[in-house]
Amino acid sequence: MIIPVVMAGGTGSRLWPMSRELYPKQYLRLNGDKSMLQETISRLDGLKIVPPILICNEQHRFLAAEQLRQLDLAAGNIILEPVGRNTAPAIALAALSATTHGENPLLLVLAADHVIADKNAFHQAITNAIPYADQGKLVTFGIVATGPETGYGYIQRGEPLGENKMAFDVHRFVEKPDFETANNYISSGEYYWNSGMFIFRAKTYLDELAKYRPDILDACQNAFSNIEKDACQDFIRVDKEAFLACPDESIDYAVMEKTAEGVVIALDAGWNDVGSWSSLWEVNPKDTESNCITGDVFTHSTNNCYINTDEKLVAAIGVDNLVIVNTKDAVLVIDKSKVQDVKKVVEYLKNNQ
Ligand code: GDD
Ligand code: MG
Repeated sequence: MIIPVVMAGGTGSRLWPMSRELYPKQYLRLNGDKSMLQETISRLDGLKIVPPILICNEQHRFLAAEQLRQLDLAAGNIILEPVGRNTAPAIALAALSATTHGENPLLLVLAADHVIADKNAFHQAITNAIPYADQGKLVTFGIVATGPETGYGYIQRGEPLGENKMAFDVHRFVEKPDFETANNYISSGEYYWNSGMFIFRAKTYLDELAKYRPDILDACQNAFSNIEKDACQDFIRVDKEAFLACPDESIDYAVMEKTAEGVVIALDAGWNDVGSWSSLWEVNPKDTESNCITGDVFTHSTNNCYINTDEKLVAAIGVDNLVIVNTKDAVLVIDKSKVQDVKKVVEYLKNNQ
């Protein structure tokens, strides 16, 4: 049995001002009719899986439940975190929930905010990964690294496994290296970017977490031993006080950097983590001047811009390589090469509002 586990607790702060604390990017319809969360679940159609476990923040519960309902999904289990403690605890809660009655299913762990253009190639990669996950490996999906991005985990390929040359031992996993290190990795040609999606048996993950971060596992077990099941919804609430005591750590630092059981499956499926406005420019259709435009926009002598407006007309003349995002209460104008710095506005707002 494969249970998808969709992690939807991130804040998506690099897509401010569209992505907000109360409405983060995974719930936004940035690429079409469906939200990124809905796309994540819909692209599993055709795989032999059961309804997903969704794990998200308490404050987004109705948003999450409504988006599942729109997919006609008998709303699977929705686990609510009182606070975000990053992905290592989130996945631990999902694994504990999936093993409650002694089962040990495969968990297909997915981020809620990725774009994958080629669904069939993605399904094939999952099929390639299953035998290794079955054998007790922690399998991740690797994207051939093409530039020294510092926002990704890097996976150095080890020995090839099996015959199809798509699976490799993980020789080394380094989460978010600095620019220089990332540059060296790229030159060596031996590295994949970690896609942030994983497949493993629930108990394999819990065992590895017990080995490397027993403090995280303990806190999650405490939080999970006192769950509250909502009578009329599918919400599962963990114990707030116990979960507050849990360290904040991603699966990448807590387990993937340390485990000896890592396997990487090459994934070539048009993956993009839509981590910033410039990646939205990259994945969306553009006009003849290479501008990507949403809403009421006038351009003249303007090239390579991403312009998105909710309501007012935006006119851009004689500008290149800009991101302009206009919402009801905030306007962002930023050089396309500086989009990672949007986080600075979010920090500023947190400290000054
Ligand atoms: N439930 C829950 N709780 N979900 C969370 C939490 C949390 O506390 N924190 C993050 N998430 C969700 C996000 O919504 C997203 O879907 C996913 O987990 C990954 O979190 P990000 O915060 O987006 O991680 P990242 O992009 O910095 O890094 C990860 O993804 C990269 C690829 O996009 C890592 O796995 C990197 O190694 C990887 O390269
Ligand atoms: Mg991300």
